[in-house]
Amino acid sequence: MQKPKVLVTRRWPAAVEAQMAANFDVDLNSADKPLSQDDFRDAMTRYDAILPTVTDKLPAAVFETSPRTRILANYGVGFAHIDTNAAKDRGIAVTNTPDVLSECTADIAMTLLLMTARRAGEGERELREGRWTGWRPTHLIGTKVSGATLGIIGFGRIGQAMAQRAHFGFGMKIIVQNRSPVPAEVLARYNATQVPTVEDLLPQADFVSLHCPGGTANRHLINARRLDLMKPSAFLINTARGEVIDEHALAQSLWFGTIAGAGLDVFEREPQVPDALLNADNLVLLPHLGSATRETREAMGFRVLENLTAFFDGRAPRDRVA
Ligand code: DGY
Repeated sequence: MQKPKVLVTRRWPAAVEAQMAANFDVDLNSADKPLSQDDFRDAMTRYDAILPTVTDKLPAAVFETSPRTRILANYGVGFAHIDTNAAKDRGIAVTNTPDVLSECTADIAMTLLLMTARRAGEGERELREGRWTGWRPTHLIGTKVSGATLGIIGFGRIGQAMAQRAHFGFGMKIIVQNRSPVPAEVLARYNATQVPTVEDLLPQADFVSLHCPGGTANRHLINARRLDLMKPSAFLINTARGEVIDEHALAQSLWFGTIAGAGLDVFEREPQVPDALLNADNLVLLPHLGSATRETREAMGFRVLENLTAFFDGRAPRDRVA
């Protein structure tokens, strides 16, 4: 029987690429060059499966050809870059890779939280640039993390992994805001309290960490009005999706000191980052590293492989989202 024809849109960990090539008739992107929308339109007519990732934009226009493609097996948990309604209209299945990246993404959120609170980025810049004049009692004074209140917006797998670290590792008090009610036993695990709205959460939190999905529903969820609800001493952390924050409004808050600082791993127009953010000293910036560990990136790839294998064997893929 002929193997399904599969397109992998970016370079993947070698171990997964090798397994993928053994199981399917695969085209790999060894140059790791992002595909254009025309490339995707064309690929839809030539491949049974396309394996996109967060850097691939797949709006409705890409689905206008008569597709040969039957499944988009996304490498990543977030899939707001795919127009899932357009995919559904064409009878194309969409899967993602939940669970396997929750811990590493929460690790990066905690890294950002600690770095912003303890001014680690500023300190490192000062030292490397030869500006450190030595220890003194008033030097680079930060904010204590242990025992502070963490507000988590979006209490899915990654939000809960963040609560685990903050509550058990740093004795933080956890408050959460989530679209749907969180089961009492899940809240109890972290001694957490759920509040009804973002407006209820922001004024109470010393740190706010975003773990909700991206896409149009949550675009600019954190805007100027909501930033004004945060304490002037509070910090905002985003490892979810760039579009969740109005970056212009955030830059204003950082520059005028209406919040104390922020840590961002994701941006609205990646890889572009506005100058107003790049120049803000009270901001820690990372280049979308949430899931970037060898273990997790391999696990993500093998999870795609599992979804793909189930689909072409005629079984329901474990992570079907559309
Ligand atoms: C995801 O999985 O959605 C990440 O942002 C990419 O690692």
